[in-house]
Amino acid sequence: MLIVGNWKAYVESQLKAKALFATAKRLSAQHDTEIVLAVPTPYLGLLSPSNRSKVAFAAQNISAGTGGAATGEVTAALLKELGVTYTLVGHSERRALGETDEMVSDKVRHAHANQIIPIVCVGEKERDPDAHYLQLLRAQIHAVFEPLAQKERQQTILAYEPIWAIGKTASEAMSPRDLTEMTLYIRKVLGEYLPGRSALKVKLLYGGSVEPSNIRSLAEGTGVDGFLPGHASADSDIFSALVKALK
Ligand code: 13P
Repeated sequence: MLIVGNWKAYVESQLKAKALFATAKRLSAQHDTEIVLAVPTPYLGLLSPSNRSKVAFAAQNISAGTGGAATGEVTAALLKELGVTYTLVGHSERRALGETDEMVSDKVRHAHANQIIPIVCVGEKERDPDAHYLQLLRAQIHAVFEPLAQKERQQTILAYEPIWAIGKTASEAMSPRDLTEMTLYIRKVLGEYLPGRSALKVKLLYGGSVEPSNIRSLAEGTGVDGFLPGHASADSDIFSALVKALK
C-alpha cells in the first residue's frame, strides 16, 4: 500500500515539519507501507535534499511551464533538482482557485516530461440522484489520460477524492461499499485508455477524511492501492496510527 500524506498548509513551522518527517522515516523503516510526503514547497528544500530514507517527497503543485518569466511558479526541473519523486496535480483545493482540466492536463504532461510522477486528483463536488457526477469524473480522467503516451498512462497515479468527503471526520467519509463501486467505475473508464489488464495496474488512491478508525475498512476489498490523507497526515501521532492501522 501507498500512503501519500498531504500536509496541505497545516504545517507552518520548520520544527513541526522536521518532527513529522522523523516520524515518517521511523514508520517507513518499520512497515512495508510506502510513505510519500506531499509538503509545502519550502519544506522540499529543507527536507528532501538530505533524505537518505525510504520516504519519498511530492510537491503539492507544479508549474505547467519550463521557467523564465513566471513569478511564483515552481517548475519540474527545480523540483527534480530538490529530489522530488511525485507531484499532486489538480487537487480540488487548486481546482477551486480556477485550475481547469486543460491546465491539469498540461501540468501532468510537464511532470512526465521531467520524470516526475503525477498524482492526479479527481472527484465530484456532490452526488446528484441522476449520477451526472460519473460523467464529470469520466471527463476529468479523459482530459488527463487521452493526450498521454501508453507508458505515461501506466505511470500516472490517480487519487479519487470526492470533495464532499474532504476535511470532515471518518464517520462522514465514503463508505467501503461506495468506494468499491467507484474503483470499479474508475478502472472501467481507465480501460478506455489502457489495453487489457493494464488498467488494473494503474495505482488508485482514495482521499477524503481518511483517519485511523476507517483506513483499514477502506483498504480491504475496495480495490484501492493506497490513500491520500490530509489532516490526519499533519499530526505525528495520528499519522503513526494511520500507518499502523494499515498493517
Ligand atoms: P482530509 O483527509 O483532510 O479530508 O483531506 C483529504 C485531501 O484533500 C487530501 O488531498
